[in-house]
Amino acid sequence: MAASDNRRVITVSDAKALAQAAANRVLARVAANGDRVAICLTGGSSPRQLYQLFATEAYRSRIPWDRVHWFIGDERFVPADDPLNNMGTARRIFLDSYAPASNIHPIPTDTANPREAARRYENELQSFYGADRLDAARPLFDVVLMGLGPDGHTASLFPNYPALEETERWVVGVPKAHVEPFVPRVTLTLPALGSCREMLFEVSGSDKRAILTRVLDGEDLPANRVYSKGETIWLVDKAALPENFRGR
Ligand code: 6PG
Repeated sequence: MAASDNRRVITVSDAKALAQAAANRVLARVAANGDRVAICLTGGSSPRQLYQLFATEAYRSRIPWDRVHWFIGDERFVPADDPLNNMGTARRIFLDSYAPASNIHPIPTDTANPREAARRYENELQSFYGADRLDAARPLFDVVLMGLGPDGHTASLFPNYPALEETERWVVGVPKAHVEPFVPRVTLTLPALGSCREMLFEVSGSDKRAILTRVLDGEDLPANRVYSKGETIWLVDKAALPENFRGR
């Protein structure tokens, strides 16, 4: 099923405004939950400005670090300190400076293979959640951040890959990536990513316009198959917005 019936597109002027809008949305979700909060981060370059904002005084002073837990939606199967490691990027930019170590939940990449890493991360998610079945009334995450790849992938859910069809497992190994970097991946699946109060895509820059056009036209792409049972927000800057979507 495509997400278009529950998706809301919010347009902002540029990448800076996009990061600010994303940060404000994340903080609103944190404030709305007075208990333990779970944020699922993402990889790639799109969230970097957002992560930099979390490290600024204006934002970090509003994050109750003790009760916010940080997960990652997909990982490249490279060592934790490799520059390509998604959680490694988030750690370097803000997590290691401000989050308690026990609240940072990376996907392990020191396992024998991605399948084993997926099994371990699934166990970690289930133990955090307190059940091995997802209950629609009790989302796993408060916010799930997402990016959009040039082939319409999101997380490491690539077009026509079996991971996209997974309905039971929460996390799976992906032996071969469809785009650069061509390293094996570990990814959360559609049911796990969709178990959130808010899914927040960040799409910025003119090089995203072609694929965003296809997404907004409703093509059957991975990014159109993942959505939250709560809110699904696509934050898009002007450079990325297709001509025919302006004013729609
Ligand atoms: C990854 C990602 C991936 C990413 C998109 C967009 O590990 O690469 O999690 O899904 O979000 O490819 O990447 P950019 O933000 O770099 O355009």
